[in-house]
Amino acid sequence: MINIGIIGIGRIGRVHGESISKYVKNACVKAVADPFLNESSKAWASSLGITETYTDHKKILNDPAIDAVLICSSTDQHSPLSIEALQAGKHVFCEKPIDHSIEKIKEVLQAVDISGKKYQVGFNRRFDHNFRAIQTAVAAGKIGKQQIIKITSRDPEPPPIDYVKVSGGIFLDMTIHDFDMVRYLSGAEVEEVYAAGSVTVDPEIGKAGDIDTAIITLKLSNGATAVIDNCRQACYGYDQRAEVFGSKGAIAITNDSSSTAVFSGKDGVLAEKPLYFFLERYMRAYADEIDAFVEAIVKDTPTVVNANDGLEPVLIGLAAKKSVEEHRPVSLKEIRQAFGL
Ligand SMILES: NC(=O)c1ccc[n+]([C@@H]2O[C@H](COP(=O)([O-])OP(=O)(O)OC[C@H]3O[C@@H](n4cnc5c(N)ncnc54)[C@H](O)[C@@H]3O)[C@@H](O)[C@H]2O)c1
Repeated sequence: MINIGIIGIGRIGRVHGESISKYVKNACVKAVADPFLNESSKAWASSLGITETYTDHKKILNDPAIDAVLICSSTDQHSPLSIEALQAGKHVFCEKPIDHSIEKIKEVLQAVDISGKKYQVGFNRRFDHNFRAIQTAVAAGKIGKQQIIKITSRDPEPPPIDYVKVSGGIFLDMTIHDFDMVRYLSGAEVEEVYAAGSVTVDPEIGKAGDIDTAIITLKLSNGATAVIDNCRQACYGYDQRAEVFGSKGAIAITNDSSSTAVFSGKDGVLAEKPLYFFLERYMRAYADEIDAFVEAIVKDTPTVVNANDGLEPVLIGLAAKKSVEEHRPVSLKEIRQAFGL
C-alpha cells in the first residue's frame, strides 16, 4: 500500500482525495496539508477517513510513512514544493503546470534527476477513455501518415477574474492541456506555433491582460499540422472534441453526456448536452492518472507523464503568447534558445 500526502486541498486536491478513496487500489491518503485549513476542509478530510490534517506541508514531508505526495496547491507553489518534496525523498505527482517560469522548471528537472524519485505531471486527459482511443489507433498506424489534428476545447464558464490574473494567461492555464494532447495524440513534437486571440467573453479578462478566445495552429515534427480552438465560455457546456486525419482515414471523438437519450419530435431532434465541466467529464481520468502514478512507484517503472512532458507544453504556451503579441509564427527553436535549452 502506497501512503499519499496531498498538499493543497482546494478544488483539484479534493478531486484527487475523493478519487483515490473511491477508485485507486494500492494507495490511501494518509494526510493532507493546506495553509488555509478550516472546519469545512477538516470535515471533508474526515468524511474520507483522513485524520491527519495540517496547515504546514512539512509535517507531510517529514513523515517517513508517507511514500508520495500530490502537489495540488496554487501554481506559484508547484516548483518550490516539488523540489522540497523530492529532496525529502518523496515520489511526486504535481498538478499542471509545473511552473510558468522555464528557469524554475529546469530546477525541478534537475531535482528529479538527482533524487531518482518518480515525478508525474497532472495531464489527466491522457487517461480519458476517448482521447486514449484516438492515441491507440494513431500509434497502431490505423490512420496512416498523420496530416491534420483538430482539437476543440471550450470551457462552460470562465474562471473568476482573480484567478485569471494569476493564471499565467489562457495558453499556460487552459490551452496547456491541449498542447499536451497534440503531443500525446501525434507522438510528435511541436516545431512552430501561430496563434490569434481575442476577448469575446468578458472585457474584464482583457483588462486583466489576457484573452479568452484563441485559434492556435501548430506545425509538428512529423509533418502534420494541428489546430486548437479555445474559448473560455460555451453556453452548452464543456466542449472537448478531437480528430486525427491521415492518409488511411480519420478518427474522431465527441463529447460525453449523461445519457445517450435522443428526443425526436416534430420540431427536430434533441440530445443531451455535454457533461458540464472537468469534474464531471474527467473524474475517472483523475483516478486513472493516480493509479498509473502508484503503479510506476510499485513496479519501479517510468511515469507515463514525466517532467519533460511538463516542460514542453509550457514552451509551446510561451511561443503561442509571443505569436499573439508579435503577430507572427514563432518557432520552438527560438523559445528553446532563449532559455538555453
Ligand atoms: N488537471 C486539471 O484538470 C486541473 C484542474 C484544476 C486545477 N488544476 C491545477 O491545480 C492547481 C490548483 O487549482 P485549484 O483549482 O484546486 O485551486 P484552488 O485555489 O481551489 O486550491 C488551491 C489550494 O492550494 C492551497 N495552497 C496554496 N499554497 C499552498 C501551500 N504552500 N501548501 C499547501 N497548500 C497551499 C490553497 O489554500 C488552496 O486550498 C492549479 O495549479 C491548477 O492549474 C488542474
